[in-house]
Amino acid sequence: MTPQSDVSLQALNTLAVPARARYLTPANSIEDLREALAFARERALPSLILGGGSNIVLSGDFDGVVIPLQLRGITCLTEQEDWVELSVAAGENWDDFVRYSLAQGWFGLENLSAIPGNVGAAPIQNIGAYGVELSSVLTSVVGLDLETGAERRLSREDCELAYRDSIFKGALRDRFVITEVGLKLSKVANTNLSYPALAAEVDASASPQEVSAAVRAVRARKLPSPAELPNAGSFFKNPIVSSEQADTLREIHPTLPMWPHNGQYKLAAGWLVEQAGWRGRSGEGEQAGVGIFREQALVLINPGRCPGRRILQFASEIQASVHAQFSVNLDIEPRVY
Ligand code: FAD
Ligand code: EPU
Repeated sequence: MTPQSDVSLQALNTLAVPARARYLTPANSIEDLREALAFARERALPSLILGGGSNIVLSGDFDGVVIPLQLRGITCLTEQEDWVELSVAAGENWDDFVRYSLAQGWFGLENLSAIPGNVGAAPIQNIGAYGVELSSVLTSVVGLDLETGAERRLSREDCELAYRDSIFKGALRDRFVITEVGLKLSKVANTNLSYPALAAEVDASASPQEVSAAVRAVRARKLPSPAELPNAGSFFKNPIVSSEQADTLREIHPTLPMWPHNGQYKLAAGWLVEQAGWRGRSGEGEQAGVGIFREQALVLINPGRCPGRRILQFASEIQASVHAQFSVNLDIEPRVY
């Protein structure tokens, strides 16, 4: 392991932020990972585990050790008549794995088609789309506990998965490197068309492969490809508010989309950002080169390949204007470094 020093991270984050890393050292094995972590520890530097870089905002240069995690492999742990249980290494590309599982006749991931990034990052924010979250198929997570240095297995319950949240963003933040993800997939098709935009795209008898194709089609219309237009998907989370606040908002804004969520309400942040006038708008002055995507107001784009601090200034203007108009706080979805 010979870490490179002063390395550009621009090609390693989908917002194309031109930040640099003090050191970068890819890990192709657990031994590499342990060595890279030891290298950081010896120098008292922070480390940043990197997957596809599709859910991070680099606010400046990273004065530490960036470790692209490239562990590969898909192992079938158990196969029964109706289901399989798999262990998937953190460095596998998520969407390649979705395609592979569908080709094997293993179902449950079709709604999660075409999400960028790697398998190891999927539990971090409990990836979700079109009515399905990772939590519906995840069985366990294996990784290194950085406090003890020991390998540790967490059950699904241990992971505390919730909407765009998990223990890896809470108590185990910066303390746990996920090396393998355990998933249970069904060999029996059981499609989920609960999301209206998806139901409108296919008929009720659609196969999992057809559902996957429909999800890809809807996503292609709404979400820009980072290769063409740098972005990190939804920049803000859909806010969750009390039923009292939801009642008040509904009265004033009857067209605001909202959904019941564990006794509270989840609001469409895209609608709030659009109504506040940001859809299709570009930043001005200092924030020129950053903007909001025309087809989906939750997607912040960075065509100017601007530094992260400008992105964050632009985002805070949006947060302030949404708060001024609706008294709702928008939280940033990607992890900010
Ligand atoms: P990275 O950006 O590399 O990392 C994200 C965070 O996880 C960082 O803090 C990193 O340190 C940490 N991390 C990564 N791997 C590990 C590991 N092995 N162990 C410990 N920590 C780790 N998300 C959704 O949920 N639903 C969507 O529909 C969706 N659509 C998107 C569409 C577009 C166009 C884009 C660009 C993004 C979208 N996202 C979506 C967000 C993103 O794809 C997911 O969050 C994805 O899981 C991030 O994976 P990554 O490998 O790129 O993570
Ligand atoms: N909406 C608007 N204006 C907009 C965008 C959306 O009014 O500009 C309204 C839509 O009309 C719809 C509602 O908001 O009524 C929801 O829109 P959409 O179906 O596009 O989904 P979303 O809530 O904006 C979420 C996820 C996406 C995920 C899709 C599909 C979050 C933060 N985002 O977006 O995830 O792909 O649902 O399930 O939960 C991501 O996390 O990066 C991401 C892309």
